[in-house]
Amino acid sequence: MVGEAVKLNLKRPINAFLASAGLSPVLMTGLNYRTNDMNDNKKLQLPYFNYLLSELKRENSRLEQSFGRHVHWGYWENPDTAALTAQDFAKAAEALSAQICRAGLIRNNLCVLDAGCGFGGTVAHINENYRSMSLMGVNLDERQLTRAKEQVKPVPGNRIDFKQSDACALPFDDASFDAVLAVECIFHFPSRERFFKEAYRVLKPGGYLALSDFVPKPLLKPIIKLKMLEWGGAGFYGKCDFSYCVADYLRLAQTLGLDLTVERDITANTLPTYRYLRRLNFDHPVNNPFAYIETAVAEVFSRMRLLDYYIFSFRKPV
Ligand SMILES: C[S@@+](CC[C@H](N)C(=O)[O-])C[C@H]1O[C@@H](n2cnc3c(N)ncnc32)[C@H](O)[C@@H]1O
Repeated sequence: MVGEAVKLNLKRPINAFLASAGLSPVLMTGLNYRTNDMNDNKKLQLPYFNYLLSELKRENSRLEQSFGRHVHWGYWENPDTAALTAQDFAKAAEALSAQICRAGLIRNNLCVLDAGCGFGGTVAHINENYRSMSLMGVNLDERQLTRAKEQVKPVPGNRIDFKQSDACALPFDDASFDAVLAVECIFHFPSRERFFKEAYRVLKPGGYLALSDFVPKPLLKPIIKLKMLEWGGAGFYGKCDFSYCVADYLRLAQTLGLDLTVERDITANTLPTYRYLRRLNFDHPVNNPFAYIETAVAEVFSRMRLLDYYIFSFRKPV
């Protein structure tokens, strides 16, 4: 009896641990799909954004500074000097967007699509740093778009639109963008293959697709795949597919005829994020044990260099 009780009690945290090994993104925010049918957007649930949005409504200034604009990991050029204050983290989150813009060769006078745009942080970054831009952010979650529309206003000479859409079924004409970005969100999309096809379609010849993603070493991939089949719980970060290795990206690009221009392992530059999240959790505990378990698993795998953080950029041939 006691053994049975112990088994039952352990089942949930163990499942959480295993599930997060394969499925949790790593943020203190988390999407959540209740079913495996990722096409059914009506079933899309966003618990980590539920948490973030409720804290933002309560005017939690530390959360606002940390995740009120960008909802992604930080990038520290020199990780040893990370100060890990809210200000330092906000700067590092801004720097990650800057790195992806750099990979996508963002410059003045471009038409740019940010897929899975969150609260519009990368759109805001481009708006503030480049001129004569036409910027479009798409997201499945209307609530995030409402905040993006409130927060991100175009500077004179730039144009900004936000639209509700699945990144894998884009409501845009062929060849309408010079660059497509996807910052730390592709693991939530229903299919990387469909997103890449859509990005290819809406890109002008010579345009760039730049993204960041958590990429497993091949050793971790079978474990992740196995756990994905079992996934059914809510967790904190929601459903994520962390099973795409570098080789898978290269194969996908080759199949579509995209040229690889950037393949950059920035894991070391992102690692201070975990220490920052621990501090943040200490001061603002999240009422969800999965938040801690999933983040800890991601950190362990990242420190073991089994789960890396990459920036990729691909060019559509002219
Ligand atoms: C970790 S957040 C990153 C947000 C933003 N890119 C950033 O860096 O701040 C992941 C984002 O992907 C969005 N998302 C998830 N599935 C999506 C889909 N199929 N189409 C469009 N956006 C999606 C979520 O709503 C969320 O905004």
